[in-house]
Amino acid sequence: MRRFEDQGFRDSMRIVMDYNNMTSSAVPDGVSPADFAAAKAAADRAAAAMPKLAAEGRMDWRALPSSQAEVSREIIDYADQARERFDAFVVLGIGGSALGPMAVQQAVNHPYYNELSREDRGGYPRFYVADNVDPERLSYLFDILDLRKTLFNVISKSGSTSETMSQFMIIKDRLERELGAEAAASNIVVTTDREKGALTKIAREGGYKTFYIPAGVGGRFSELCPVGLLPAAMCGVDIEELLAGAAYMDAICSEPDATKNPAYMYALLNYIGMKKGKPISVMMPYADSLKYMADWYAQLWAESLGKAKDRGGRTVNAGPTPVKALGVTDQHSQVQLYAEGPFDKMIVFLAVGKFRRETAIPRVFGDAPNLAFLGGHTHSELISVERAATEYALMKSGKMNMTITLPEVNAFTVGQLLQLFEVATAFCGELLDINAFDQPGVEGGKNAAYAMFGRPGYEAVRAELDARPAKDAKFII
Ligand code: PA5
Repeated sequence: MRRFEDQGFRDSMRIVMDYNNMTSSAVPDGVSPADFAAAKAAADRAAAAMPKLAAEGRMDWRALPSSQAEVSREIIDYADQARERFDAFVVLGIGGSALGPMAVQQAVNHPYYNELSREDRGGYPRFYVADNVDPERLSYLFDILDLRKTLFNVISKSGSTSETMSQFMIIKDRLERELGAEAAASNIVVTTDREKGALTKIAREGGYKTFYIPAGVGGRFSELCPVGLLPAAMCGVDIEELLAGAAYMDAICSEPDATKNPAYMYALLNYIGMKKGKPISVMMPYADSLKYMADWYAQLWAESLGKAKDRGGRTVNAGPTPVKALGVTDQHSQVQLYAEGPFDKMIVFLAVGKFRRETAIPRVFGDAPNLAFLGGHTHSELISVERAATEYALMKSGKMNMTITLPEVNAFTVGQLLQLFEVATAFCGELLDINAFDQPGVEGGKNAAYAMFGRPGYEAVRAELDARPAKDAKFII
């Protein structure tokens, strides 16, 4: 039996959310029983809307833990073969096609994974993500890759994202020049939509191995389909355990009553907090392994919930502002502001019950009382105590905060975390009465970039750009 099939293991790995310090019993400005009562109608409406969204196919991502069972076996087989041949695995993707793969890999694997010997990596290739189009980044990446032994995973749902596709163009050209067209094709694996977009056609014509993103699954909700499963499997993450963790949390988050549903409660607290003038949502993991989880969450939260219009077409300019922080590092950077600055934030700590490694602090400097007290303790004690102390100090300063604890960081708990925040995001979208699954606000910049690059079909935007008034030199110093 795999460990995630054992109910005892599953229950011992359940993520727990403690929101005491979000409430008025802990902080004067916290969420009070009256606030909960005032939000009840919105919460009931949102809970009733969730099954409707599912029926409309807007939440196909929720079914990924079960719908991807078959493809995950195909991915595992593919990864088992590919790892024999490749020494490096490079994701070409951006946004929802990059942040999840980065977050999961960093959470589950050794923090110096790429520096380990191949044997210590379990025979899996090194892992890189090329998301930005900073010209230095990709160019320098070539310095450390042996192209013959590198597998490139082009991930794009739309197949038209300029960043990803321009990187693919560079790599395809370079691979074909160095290896020849036929050999080059076996160093490329594509993840895209089955029917729509240019990439699916390119993949078919190029003979590239292709995995498909289910139709109703948008970028930032796609980590648990081949977008995230293939990169995870390629660096040795147990993707079946990841999916099992997500399924476990999904069952917990299917409870309509928010007091029993951590995703609904998380969204509700944020929704009420926003109404109480706290639009800033700080995600502060106290574990390096979860650092990129805050990046993944920031995109999910910002792109899904930052919307100009509500469903009725009214201008609402809604949305929380996610901020990423890292404990304890940012205690020496941002916590001063959180403690004494404006009451405009909610701070979410991610805590870890048991770290996978321990470092004991030896009893040295015994004659220096300001340091001697540390001796005999461990770093996991220190990080946990510092988190608890910061939580306490913020509560004393009247700052709303909550703690989500992962008993341990592993594929099962990471799967839970992904599903928890995805369901919370969808529920928060319903509370705000906005569409959490589109991103019209990014189109303006994209279209202007297309026009500046002379893409056919964007002549009107180009004309509009050309007609804009020149910048005033007096405002440039
Ligand atoms: O969440 C989203 O939809 C976006 O962040 C996309 O993931 C991102 O823009 C990349 O899109 P694509 O996968 O089509 O290349």
